[in-house]
Formats: sequence, C-alpha cells, structure tokens
Amino acid sequence: MIALVTGAGVRVGKALALALGTAGYDLELCCHRSLAATERVAERVRKLGRKATVRQVDLADGAAVDALTSDLRRRHRRLDLLVHNAGTFARTPFPETTRTALAHALEVHVAAPFFLTQGLLPLLRAARAPSIVALGDIFGERPVVDFAAHCVSKAALHMLVRQLAVELAPKVRVNGIAPGVVLWPSEELGQGARDAALTRVPLAREGSPDDVARTVLFLAREAPFMTGQLLTLDGGRSVPL
Ligand SMILES: NC(=O)c1ccc[n+]([C@@H]2O[C@H](COP(=O)([O-])OP(=O)(O)OC[C@H]3O[C@@H](n4cnc5c(N)ncnc54)[C@H](OP(=O)(O)O)[C@@H]3O)[C@@H](O)[C@H]2O)c1
Repeated sequence: MIALVTGAGVRVGKALALALGTAGYDLELCCHRSLAATERVAERVRKLGRKATVRQVDLADGAAVDALTSDLRRRHRRLDLLVHNAGTFARTPFPETTRTALAHALEVHVAAPFFLTQGLLPLLRAARAPSIVALGDIFGERPVVDFAAHCVSKAALHMLVRQLAVELAPKVRVNGIAPGVVLWPSEELGQGARDAALTRVPLAREGSPDDVARTVLFLAREAPFMTGQLLTLDGGRSVPL
C-alpha cells in the first residue's frame, strides 16, 4: 500500500506519516520548508520497515505541483491513499487582506489538492480501494473574524471534497476531516484565546495529532461505504447548545 501525505514533516503531518508507516503504508512525504524534519520522519518510517521518499515542493506553485505528479506517475503504478494535509493559517483582517494573501490561501488549500488529485488520478484508479482524505477546518463551515482568507479557502476545500466524491465515484472515495483545536497555532493566536476556545469544548481538551491520524486511518480503511463526508473532529465544540 502506498500513501502520499502533504505537509508531512511537522505537527499533524508528522503524526500522520508515522501512523501510516506503522499501519503498513510505503510513503511519499511532501514538505516545503521543513526538509530536515521531514527527512527525520522518513528515517523513522524506514526503521518501521516501510519505504519513504521525501519531496520538497511549494504547493502554491502550480508548475511544481504538476512536476511532482508527473514524476510520481513515472515512479509508481498505483496510489492507495492521498492525504491533503498541508495548510496555512495566517491572520488576514479583512480590510487589509491583499490579493496575494487570498491567492496564496486558495493555492495551498484548493488549487493544490485539486490538481494533485487530478494529476494522480491514474494512479489512484489503479489501486484496489483508493481513498483521498483532506484536512479541512471547523472554520471552513463558519466564519471567524480576522481569518477571512483561511475560512473562505477551507470552505472551498470542503466543497472540493464533496465535488470529488461525486466526480470520482464509484472507484475513489473522497472524505475530509474538519478539526477544531488540535495543536494551538501560538504565533497567530495567544494563550488567552486558547483557554477561551477550550472552555467551549465539551471534551475539555485540545485534539492531538494522533486523534487526526486515527481518523484518517478510519476513513482510509474502515469506511468503505463513506464518501463525500466532512467529519468534525473538535471534541464537541460545534454541537449547538
Ligand atoms: N492544528 C490545528 O489545530 C488545526 C485545526 C484545524 C484545521 N487544521 C488543519 O489540519 C492540517 C494540519 O494542521 P497543522 O496544524 O499540522 O498544519 P500547519 O502546521 O499549519 O501546516 C502543515 C504543513 O503544511 C505545509 N505547507 C504550508 N504551506 C505549504 C506550501 N506552500 N507548500 C507545501 N507545503 C506547505 C507545511 O510544510 P513545511 O513545514 O514543510 O513548510 C506544514 O508542515 C492543516 O491543513 C490545517 O489547516 C489544523
């Protein structure tokens, strides 16, 4: 079994890579800036007895995405699992948001998953039970002030999940996960905001990268009748009270 994970060197992506390696997948690990960290993840995956290759690619660069898919099609005969994990989380107060900032969020969250999937479709279709999982966000379903580019682009990613589920059925299943707080982005939001957010979480804790990894594995291996779904993974935060 072969899986590709984007943003695979740190944080959630690192946990995904290690969980998938443990579950028996050979891995294509994509990174952008975290090359050294991703090489270390690959080394740990190899120690598990699986193959791991590191790819450094800027997913905001369409030509680089196309070059990646071409190379993967030359090197592999099939792809069992594609995980669109890479993401950006930049504060973009609406009055100051530039076209460049919006375009970047859309490139990483929408265009890259769109064209990576398109380019890898022949490999996915050649697998026995292929699956795609995209990491969305609870803020792709509702707005949060000062994060317009993030919310709008994640909302588009959620629609891409639903669209591709229909387009690629019945062979390829496509699902997403919409996490709440998993690892707090301390550079963008302070500790006070974290504590306030956690008071709204019935399960009273942050999610862990392992929570996300287990859900990706569930969607990939244990949910053969599920497609086009966004699973909310937020400790109950979005349950209406
Ligand atoms: N953590 C949370 O609480 C939370 C909450 C809701 C949703 N999510 C979503 O879950 C996913 C994983 O979360 P995370 O917190 O681990 O994400 P993250 O740390 O913000 O970013 C994950 C990876 O995305 C990669 N990336 C960003 N821009 C890229 C680009 N232009 N080209 C290629 N790779 C790029 C980065 O790779 P490099 O490091 O190699 O540059 C990074 O390692 C993301 O999609 C995120 O939006 C997370």
